Amino acid sequence: MADYDVVIIGAGAAGLHCAAHAARRGRRVLVLDHAKQAGKKILISGGGRCNFTNLYASPENYLSANPHFCKSALSRYSQWDFIGLVSDYGIAYHEKTLGQLFCDDSAKDIVRMLLAECDKYGARVQLRTEVTAVTHDATNGYTIETQRGDTRQTLYSDKLVVACGGLSMPKLGATPLGYQLAEQFGHRIQPVSAALVPLTLQPHDKQALEELSGVSLPITASANDGFFREAMLFTHRGVSGPAILQISSYWRPGESVELNLCPDTDVAEWLKQQQQQSPKAQLATVLQQLLPKRVAQRLQAWQGWPQQGNLADLSHSQIERIASFLNRWPLKPNGSEGYRTAEVTLGGVDVNQISSKTMESQLQPGLYFIGEVLDVTGWLGGYNFQWAWSSGYACGEGV
Ligand code: FDA
Repeated sequence: MADYDVVIIGAGAAGLHCAAHAARRGRRVLVLDHAKQAGKKILISGGGRCNFTNLYASPENYLSANPHFCKSALSRYSQWDFIGLVSDYGIAYHEKTLGQLFCDDSAKDIVRMLLAECDKYGARVQLRTEVTAVTHDATNGYTIETQRGDTRQTLYSDKLVVACGGLSMPKLGATPLGYQLAEQFGHRIQPVSAALVPLTLQPHDKQALEELSGVSLPITASANDGFFREAMLFTHRGVSGPAILQISSYWRPGESVELNLCPDTDVAEWLKQQQQQSPKAQLATVLQQLLPKRVAQRLQAWQGWPQQGNLADLSHSQIERIASFLNRWPLKPNGSEGYRTAEVTLGGVDVNQISSKTMESQLQPGLYFIGEVLDVTGWLGGYNFQWAWSSGYACGEGV
């Protein structure tokens, strides 16, 4: 007889939630993790307050090669189910903005809750454990070779759940183990890249804009099918802030991101009106009505917009050039800050080879994938944790 019905690799958001639900159904569950602490990403998320879900989470908020895949799990365990659990534990929370729910007190409350659920139903969590090899055969099911300090241990389990997340933030323990196991059992991997990540600028743009580091302004950002209206922050390496993090998931290297720095204003029309109403005004003065002063001044100098003369002197083509930049700046990033600072990994285990109902492999019976290791990537704002809860639940019910 196997040691466990279910071994889960990864004591993160998806793994812990899955463990509790599988154990609640009477499964003998062991969760393994190489980290010293369970749920490390939960603990640092949302500035230590964990943006644990979003009131408006729906399949449209997720990127995947198969956008239909996430629908079943999200509908069977929704944000309302997780909010119910959080409420049962008396964890106070609030909506910050755009439906994003954060703990009032600390992200530790979420980890404590998940561990308490595991404990309540008897799921074991074993930390500081490296998984060194996994094999499968008809007699033993899954054989999991582990190393804990100097101790080697061989575990046998009927089912194996891969919940070891993506590649973002290697400092917090991210490894490619999930993808390696998927490939070992014949799974395709959709190309992975850093997402929800600051973008870096080409050297000439960086030099021109680095003095704006720390300034933020509301913008819209678009690339491919993505369009976001949120704040952008200039950094000393490039651009960040929610609008940029969001659009980074849609941007591809070599392409541009279109930024509208004055999303509420048709700048050409507005400048023409200003020209009529205040022909003697300076361009610098009126631009400061549209943009933070430092941004207006820097762009004017950098883009070579007239510094002298008054609005009446602006030609039609000068107005069009200024307006085109402010409403449709085609920013061509140099790259992104990469996995070091990315919140998530785009791409992952191809969901077309996974059951959307149970998260079981269609190639290898008894093997399951949940959470970020799958090719399902949420927007910024609590959507990624919701995917961890939903996919963890679906698997916990099916395993
Ligand atoms: P997760 O990464 O949580 O867990 C994977 C586990 O597997 C880890 O415990 C890891 O140690 C373990 N593991 C990895 N390799 C292993 C190996 N070789 N052997 C053993 N164990 C191994 N999302 C959101 O919705 N709201 C938010 O506020 C934030 N904030 C946020 C901040 C920061 C800084 C980051 C980096 C990310 C976020 N996210 C987020 C994203 C969110 O944290 C992420 O999508 C989920 O944690 C994914 O859950 P998983 O359980 O799939 O992986």
